[in-house]
Amino acid sequence: MLNTFSYPELKFPTGFLWGTSTAAHQIEGGDIHSWNNYIEIQDNYEAVSGDACDHWNLWRSDADLMAELGFPAYRMSLSWARVEPECRRFNQQVIDRYVEEMSYLKSLGIKVFLTLFHGSAPLWFMQAGGFARNENVAYFEEYVRHIVPFVKDLVDGFNVINEFNLQYETDLTIAGAKRRNHLLAHARGYHIIKEYSQKPVSSAHALLAAEPEYNHDQFDALTSRFYDWIHNEFFFHAIRTGEFVHPYCDAEVLPEVKNSLDFWSVNYYCRTVCSARKAGLVASPHASERLRMIDKDFYLENIHPQGFVSGLVRLNDKPVYITENGISADDDRWRILKMATDLSAIHDAIKLGVDVRGYFHWSTMDNYEWSSFVPRFGLIAIDGKTMERTPKPSAHFLGEIIRENGFSGELVKRYLPGMAQLKLY
Ligand code: BGC
Repeated sequence: MLNTFSYPELKFPTGFLWGTSTAAHQIEGGDIHSWNNYIEIQDNYEAVSGDACDHWNLWRSDADLMAELGFPAYRMSLSWARVEPECRRFNQQVIDRYVEEMSYLKSLGIKVFLTLFHGSAPLWFMQAGGFARNENVAYFEEYVRHIVPFVKDLVDGFNVINEFNLQYETDLTIAGAKRRNHLLAHARGYHIIKEYSQKPVSSAHALLAAEPEYNHDQFDALTSRFYDWIHNEFFFHAIRTGEFVHPYCDAEVLPEVKNSLDFWSVNYYCRTVCSARKAGLVASPHASERLRMIDKDFYLENIHPQGFVSGLVRLNDKPVYITENGISADDDRWRILKMATDLSAIHDAIKLGVDVRGYFHWSTMDNYEWSSFVPRFGLIAIDGKTMERTPKPSAHFLGEIIRENGFSGELVKRYLPGMAQLKLY
């Protein structure tokens, strides 16, 4: 797996689905009813999403570009805030515009994976307490029930919610309450969608590869297991058994959660190094002394294919789609390297019996990264002034992999000339 330049031919299973991924708030622009937009303004962040990539207007040419690049599938999201800017007032023009975009993608032969909620909660919902309040789950159900009939025939795979396993509160009672309610919202969304569609449904899980900073240190070892529990295992366990088990919360059986997904939807980025000696439980990242990836240090945690394999083998009881995987880098060669190493990890997991059926790279284009435009995850560069789109070499690298349904070290070498070897330290 590690010797990137001498990989043998790695072929993926027939029918493997390839694509790229985005989220509405991060690319559309003008998502002004979203809570995110509001916190950014309140906190006076240097950058707010603003026009983002102006995808709200440029969706047609973006779809054409994806087709030209040979990307067969696209994971997109709806902005809940845009669809329902005020409680129970649904904006039909917005819904029609989403339907038009999805129909156009389908007319180009592009399969659509749709996330119903990826970080764009409406302001009114958050002012009512968001998912911290049990009774608010009902608002989310109303949204799902309203939107699904419009989009049901255009979707090839659903994500109800994106990455609710990540919660940033240090108060685990509050984080637990939110995770519980997100789980319920996910499950109820799942069952509503099932009333309308036979297509597979899941919610995307941010798979964290939590590892102890020092293996021999029992506190670090316990910390990494704890970290794994509150980020990964609570979710896997709840889906498999219906039981929600979270620190500082009474355990609860939520029958509708059991088996409420048809595939594991996995977003994987990096390793999380856990330290018992840090208040946030996470060790300081390890910067490479030699390499610069972006206008900041390159953290060695970003390339960690072993963590991907170990995470995936835990998910061998259902089909798996990788719904996000990528890296933030100005130097596009890192994206190519990241893709090569993580695709090889996926290939290893498949050999070990995990039924991985597809891969969506994050992200289709450079976009708004929740508080800033500095991080660059895109396969396509965006000029923030002219909104001109320029595919990067990594976009063509992925295009070639898709055409061959696989790749070898030769392809990696061709895209990374002059990098005879990779030394991180
Ligand atoms: C999120 C994306 C985000 C990406 C890169 C994922 O956790 O789903 O919205 O942009 O990570 O940070």
